[in-house]
Amino acid sequence: MDELKIPQHVAVILDGNGRWAKKRRMPRKYGHAQGAKAVEQVCENAWRMGIKYLTVYAFSTENWKRPEDEIDAIMKLFRDYLKNCLEISRKNDMRVRIIGDRSCLNEDIIKVITQLEEESKNNQGLNFQVALNYGSRDEITRAVKKIAQKIENGTLRSEEINETIISDELDTCDIPDPDLMIRTSGEQRLSNYMLWQLAYAEFYFTDVLWPDFDKKELEKAVAFYNKRDRRFGGV
Ligand code: FPP
Repeated sequence: MDELKIPQHVAVILDGNGRWAKKRRMPRKYGHAQGAKAVEQVCENAWRMGIKYLTVYAFSTENWKRPEDEIDAIMKLFRDYLKNCLEISRKNDMRVRIIGDRSCLNEDIIKVITQLEEESKNNQGLNFQVALNYGSRDEITRAVKKIAQKIENGTLRSEEINETIISDELDTCDIPDPDLMIRTSGEQRLSNYMLWQLAYAEFYFTDVLWPDFDKKELEKAVAFYNKRDRRFGGV
């Protein structure tokens, strides 16, 4: 039997927390809390399977349109989750990075993020990225501004711009592009997630709601990835 190919980087759009809670006649925030537990589990399972990078879409630049009480509940959850993440990163040697525009997050959340990234930067276990206030178009816009500034101050010439220069200005610089993108809950769209980085990724969609996405579901996604023939534009 052929050996199982393990994707180096898996990007996840976790979706369906609200529907999961509704099915149980529980408030949406209960679904988010269960979703956070599923994130913790998927980190452990991914690392055990040999996945080196995992990026989860926790909060998009568009999610601010949700009702205020839901946003408050999600932010409270992030606060607790990020503190818990400090413990987990120490225990599991996990490196944590946050992608997205953190400038408009609350001061205390920014402080925990900075501490998490600084403390875990030399860890050798799973590279875990959380997309918080993330939108791919926003990320690309910020990158273009940084490149324009370099041209303005004379440290870069426009002829020198290439794909590497652009990649290096994205929040994901130093992180390899995802090989596999998973979206739960039956939706089949990208929702402004890693548009540049997912150029050659395989897409896996499942009807499973995020809080139910367990080890078995991750294994199914990896099995699907193994059936794909990745040609990167070749024959
Ligand atoms: C997805 O389900 C939920 C979100 C994108 C909101 C925030 C995510 C969490 C709290 C999960 C935990 C993540 C971390 C990193 C702690 P939805 O509300 O869009 O579900 P629905 O489509 O069923 O309404």
